[in-house]
Amino acid sequence: MFGPSGTSKFQQEFGSPTVAVTGVAGFIGSHLAERLVQLGCSVIGIDDFDPWYDLNQKRNNLLDVIGNPNFELVDRALDHETACAAFGRSSVVFHLAGRPGVQDSWGQGFVESSRRNVELTQQVLEASVESDVSRVVYASSSSVYGSGATSLEIAPEPQPISPYGVSKLVGEQLAHVYRNRGLEVTNLRYFTVYGPRQRPDMAMHRMFESTKANGPVFVRRGDGLQRREFTYVSDVVSATVAAGFVAAAADETFDVGGGSSVSLQEVMSLVEKLAGASMRTETTAAPAGDPAVTVARTNKARDVLGWIPEVDLVKGLGQQCEWHRQRVSSEAPILIAD
Ligand SMILES: NC(=O)c1ccc[n+]([C@@H]2O[C@H](COP(=O)([O-])OP(=O)(O)OC[C@H]3O[C@@H](n4cnc5c(N)ncnc54)[C@H](O)[C@@H]3O)[C@@H](O)[C@H]2O)c1
Repeated sequence: MFGPSGTSKFQQEFGSPTVAVTGVAGFIGSHLAERLVQLGCSVIGIDDFDPWYDLNQKRNNLLDVIGNPNFELVDRALDHETACAAFGRSSVVFHLAGRPGVQDSWGQGFVESSRRNVELTQQVLEASVESDVSRVVYASSSSVYGSGATSLEIAPEPQPISPYGVSKLVGEQLAHVYRNRGLEVTNLRYFTVYGPRQRPDMAMHRMFESTKANGPVFVRRGDGLQRREFTYVSDVVSATVAAGFVAAAADETFDVGGGSSVSLQEVMSLVEKLAGASMRTETTAAPAGDPAVTVARTNKARDVLGWIPEVDLVKGLGQQCEWHRQRVSSEAPILIAD
């Protein structure tokens, strides 16, 4: 019902609600907006086009929804007034806006991590209460676990090992606190998301770009043996939509992971195979805040949200590979005015 082919079932059950997506021009937010429109929702998307990474990429992310009568872009930072104006017309708020990235959260970077992950989340929650929205879905992260999410058998307690992880955990805890003001919030802990439009700082994006003629060198951080649970973006979107509408998901927290934990070295080989070219690599020391392994426990998402990941790594990386190929010839278009 929440997947790409679930439109008629979704509409029978939920009609055509108006919803808000914060961080809509980002990697995951743009895919989410597309799915919601496809399911029959009217989407108010908010983004301040944070120049932390290439703005052309962010603008291009919206090409498939911009101009759709059921999509409205609010090209502005989420202050209280902007949030209330959008949320006042929305039944569900999908809160994805933030400053992701573990490495940039050290040092002075933490100023932006706290502003965009902690303070912004509090503002979104406050405006959601005032606007009487029925549910907020908060995009949290596997980073809240630090080094703890290592196997299916162990239920880890959150114990971040990076400032970014701390900022996302504070966001979750704020969400928890706002239950006292009568707000329903669902926290989703995304595990390393990949697919078309992946952020340029993320490993797979950097790998694919480095396979191009004259592409940048791929700087491998650490020995490549670190294992990650990679999650394809359309699966993340299905879990996120379900979290907004399944009644039993209220006030719950879910791991959202792709189903298998794979080493960076294995991903590098796969990327080279798919791209049909090798990458130029350099190796630096393993950075602080980088866990050796991440494993998602997705039973709860399966039982409560009815969600299971559908796209395996080979298929998903193939889709991402195609996006990187086309990117060469489509870097120019900028269709949204500043
Ligand atoms: N990509 C992943 O693997 C991953 C994993 C775990 C959690 N997350 C979380 O999911 C969310 C989306 O991640 P992403 O990879 O799509 O990141 P992204 O950087 O591509 O998207 C975030 C968007 O939020 C916008 N934004 C930031 N501050 C804003 C503000 N004050 N007002 C309006 N817009 C603002 C940015 O301009 C950006 O377009 C983030 O909250 C991130 O922490 C992502």
